[in-house]
Amino acid sequence: MIAVIDFGSQTTQLIARKIREWGVFAEIFPFHVHPEDLKDAQGIVLSGGPESAVQTQYPQVRKEIWDLSVPILGICYGFQSLALHYGAVLGKSKREYGSAKLKIFGSSPLFADIRDDTVVWMSHEDSVETLPEGFDTIASTASIPIAGIQSLSRKRYGIQFHPEVFHTEAGFQIIGNFVEKIVKADKDWSLSNFIEMEIERIKAIAGKDTVVAGISGGVDSTVASVLAHQALGKNLHCFFVDHGLLRKNEREEVVELLSGLGIQLEVLDRKALFLDALKGVEDPEEKRKIIGKLFIDTFEASAKKVQAKFLLQGTLYPDVIESSGGVSGLAVKIKSHHNVGGLPEKMNLKLLEPLKMLFKDEVRLIGKKLGLPDPFILRHPFPGPGLGIRIIGAVDGKKVEVLQNADAILREELAKYDVDHQVWQGFVVLLPIRSVGVMGDQRTYQCVAAVRLVEAVDGMTARWHKMPHEVLEHISNRITNEIIEINRVVYDITSKPPGTIEWE
Ligand code: XMP
Repeated sequence: MIAVIDFGSQTTQLIARKIREWGVFAEIFPFHVHPEDLKDAQGIVLSGGPESAVQTQYPQVRKEIWDLSVPILGICYGFQSLALHYGAVLGKSKREYGSAKLKIFGSSPLFADIRDDTVVWMSHEDSVETLPEGFDTIASTASIPIAGIQSLSRKRYGIQFHPEVFHTEAGFQIIGNFVEKIVKADKDWSLSNFIEMEIERIKAIAGKDTVVAGISGGVDSTVASVLAHQALGKNLHCFFVDHGLLRKNEREEVVELLSGLGIQLEVLDRKALFLDALKGVEDPEEKRKIIGKLFIDTFEASAKKVQAKFLLQGTLYPDVIESSGGVSGLAVKIKSHHNVGGLPEKMNLKLLEPLKMLFKDEVRLIGKKLGLPDPFILRHPFPGPGLGIRIIGAVDGKKVEVLQNADAILREELAKYDVDHQVWQGFVVLLPIRSVGVMGDQRTYQCVAAVRLVEAVDGMTARWHKMPHEVLEHISNRITNEIIEINRVVYDITSKPPGTIEWE
């Protein structure tokens, strides 16, 4: 196992993910982790983070961590804190954001099989200004002379850039070099092992108890339930809360899928309750909170009846970082993601989170291995608060219906042109403005809809998709022709960052 120590970077989890792609299990720990908890670690990676080590007070690992004999690689802030520990001076030199040309010197196992000038991705304000004793400089950029260091005898390595992000050309190979050439870690991480181990683990923990699950219609909660169903059979009770903010036909599709898999599912129709509570509410965070709370209340009332001891959740590894400030609590919160957080304490339930260590693409592969049909596994992610955060401003039943119809057209067209798999997520957003149009010689004054199609690997960053104009034209024509309430369609050409994927 390789331990990734988190200083609050938005990309910490990508480091773990890339390590796993090399067949080695990686787990994320907070920066204040006790060395005792790292006994299984064959190597350590220190992540980047939003803090500055140039301050008098800055997050540091416990000092015993530096005495461990395993190799350590510091990335960005992790690099700076490693250099500082070994005696370097840090300074606020030139800020660097985005791509930079890296010049590699000498021979480092970290840069094996990599060209000596390669594009890397930088995101820093501070930099390492002097080389710690016993270290060599192994890379630089035009802005910073010390962009990479190593001490072969101490097995310590540091790099200022982020090898975990897609835009660092040789990033995956650099991580692989650390895993294979430096740590020489055991390669025993595979998803088939994971399924067997997880079913046994669920049986051992909750085999004789009742477990409840909230099904959202998404891949995560469904895969978690199928896995738990194999371990628990009839002791698993699934609830599907219809909050009235679902995609067109979603409820019917979910019921059909789960009953086909032999899983008990109770549908709780609460459309009126949710729409009533959302009446007139415009603020995105307030909407998210109302939906989250009502979901919990609805779920709680029904789950109580079956006297459950455990709550099954489809929490993924990335959910930890985006919602709660990350493993270390240092990451900056972007949005309150909707999940059933709050329930376990309220209902005295213990949590079962079989997918907590997994990334989305790993969950999809597990779903496939568990026999879920492809169209279901490949569905675009759908947020817990549903169409509620795709209707900008106040939500009402009429707007939901309009958006459901527009969204269904988008999905049909993406499938028709066989382009739905080219995008990570595609959806329509209903805007709270109207614009003037002309149809059949008549003036119209109707709503504007935005089409959002993004490419992403994990949803942490995203790029707007350059869909052929012909497809966009068909989508726009169908939406404006078939939905009387929409007379204008615009295309969102914002990436993440600076936008987020959802508009609210
Ligand atoms: P953002 O908008 O934060 O979205 O760039 C990143 C990914 O997360 C999904 N998303 C959510 N998923 N509950 C969820 O289960 C939520 O509250 C939520 N908000 C956003 C979003 O659709 C995208 O895939």
